Amino acid sequence: MYKIQTLNNISVKGLEKFPRETYEVASEIQNPDAYMLRSLKLHNVDIPESVLAIGRAGAGVNNIPIEKMSARGVPVFNAPGANANAVKELVLTGMLLGCRNICQAWECAKNLTGDDESISKEVEQVKKKFVGFELPGRTLGVIGLGAIGTSVANMARDLGMNVVGYDPALTVERAWQLSSSIESANTVDELLAKSDFVTIHVPFNEGTKNLINARRINTMNDNAIILNFSRNGIVNDEDAVEALNAGKLYSYICDFPSNLLKDHPRVITLPHLGASTGEAEENCAIMIADQLKDFLENGNIKNS
Ligand code: MLT
Repeated sequence: MYKIQTLNNISVKGLEKFPRETYEVASEIQNPDAYMLRSLKLHNVDIPESVLAIGRAGAGVNNIPIEKMSARGVPVFNAPGANANAVKELVLTGMLLGCRNICQAWECAKNLTGDDESISKEVEQVKKKFVGFELPGRTLGVIGLGAIGTSVANMARDLGMNVVGYDPALTVERAWQLSSSIESANTVDELLAKSDFVTIHVPFNEGTKNLINARRINTMNDNAIILNFSRNGIVNDEDAVEALNAGKLYSYICDFPSNLLKDHPRVITLPHLGASTGEAEENCAIMIADQLKDFLENGNIKNS
């Protein structure tokens, strides 16, 4: 009997992959063979020696002490691409919310008072404040061309945007596949210098911390929009706020709550919703369950 401990709510579609005859799956379990989790941070958790594998039902693995697990020979599986569509759709939503001033306009519309006639007079006045801009012909810089970044890039191209991509880990084969649709930049600076929007799809680590900072924001086109649906800390929030206040940035869409950002009129913060659709949760759980099963039953390692 294999024992799987779920540390977060995992979609039932994934759990159904474990037959009851051979698996015990529970949130509280003694000496589990594997952990299955979403975003819970494991850095300060005492992971029992019985754990042979960890499955992260998502793309990023920065909530797991990878080095410690590698030293123990414990593979950590993730679910690359399984939530790419969900993130892509929210990036598009973010771009449109930003360039059409939707949140500010909605707030304003809720506060219009009076009878229908006076409201419609006021509407004529206030709508002037919310004139936005359109996507076709604008350039989207995509930092990180894994499953999510590539899917965002293809969507943007289909919407008539120019797309410039940068990925330090891009293989020649992948660059060749992408070359017809995406202009590739050799550096982040080169990408930013062309971008009206920049969207980030790289993991958080020492190399990507503060990747988007004051110096780099200043190289972007005026009135640019930054979207961070990856990890907090890749964009320097203080620098972003300064650039917003200076009129350099148009908007900053950030998939993380933040005291510094939450009241800024040109910032939209979200509670890390990029991958939060039923479909993405199901896809991730199924992919991780398949990998854990294949490892426990056959010793196979995929996406580790
Ligand atoms: C991811 O890394 O794919 C996301 O953080 C997933 C999530 O929100 O659980």
